Amino acid sequence: MKKKKMTVPALVRKKHTVEKISALTAYDYTMASLLDAAGIDMILVGDSVACVSQGHSTTLPVTLDEMIYHCKCVTRGVAHALVVGDLPFLSYQVSIERAIESAGRLLKEGNVSAVKLEGGVKVAKTIEALTAVDIPVMGHIGLTPQSYHRMGGHKQQGKKQAAANNEAGSRERVLADAQAVQDAGAFGLVLEGIPADLAREITELVTIPTIGIAAGPHCDGQILVSTDMLGMNPDFCPKFVKKYADLASVIDSAVQQYIFEVQSRSYPEAEELSDQRTPGLTLV
Ligand code: KIV
Repeated sequence: MKKKKMTVPALVRKKHTVEKISALTAYDYTMASLLDAAGIDMILVGDSVACVSQGHSTTLPVTLDEMIYHCKCVTRGVAHALVVGDLPFLSYQVSIERAIESAGRLLKEGNVSAVKLEGGVKVAKTIEALTAVDIPVMGHIGLTPQSYHRMGGHKQQGKKQAAANNEAGSRERVLADAQAVQDAGAFGLVLEGIPADLAREITELVTIPTIGIAAGPHCDGQILVSTDMLGMNPDFCPKFVKKYADLASVIDSAVQQYIFEVQSRSYPEAEELSDQRTPGLTLV
């Protein structure tokens, strides 16, 4: 059966169906095509590209131009999934006008269907302004990686009751953030790094779908960084990540085999040399 294109309204409707929303990140054409062909509902071109593809230790350095480049690569490979582009650090915090320009560029140039930004109460006005010009927004609250320095690392949020006044990172603050993001018009909400019972409370409170990462099983969907769940980085595997494959070992043995065959002159063989379909190589 031909899979239908996932749209923003179709994703929102999934909150009220039995089937949960499946989401993964992608940063390039090849990975995006593979995830899309496998039937994933949503692909996030996450600012985690800063760590996964660019080798930084936080998401802060990636620029808007770089995000647009990665969005272009991903959307070229996707026929069915909803593609959401992350707004990088400082592309939406400086002013509402800057936020509209940045988000608009992700849609116009990057060809994504929606944007994601981090924060709750503090970015509610920005979410309102973006939705007012028909840019669909996905919120992201709890552990927000762009707040790395304020949080003192990638730390779980929403664990403690507020000492005073909805203190940042408190349970009350995360609940208030969820409500603010929904009221501002976001169509969905990523819940990252919060206790499972808080994620359940938020999922029951809001009418928009929640998509969890390190937030337990009660969200309306789940998202993971694709390279983590595919086991592509042997040195990094957070506890909440289930490795569905061990691609690091698969790649390692394939490359070792290739090195061996090149060094021992067993590759290429005569029949491989005569193969005209070798990508990028036309034999004359
Ligand atoms: O940038 C990212 O990959 C994300 C997800 C982990 C939710 O924001």
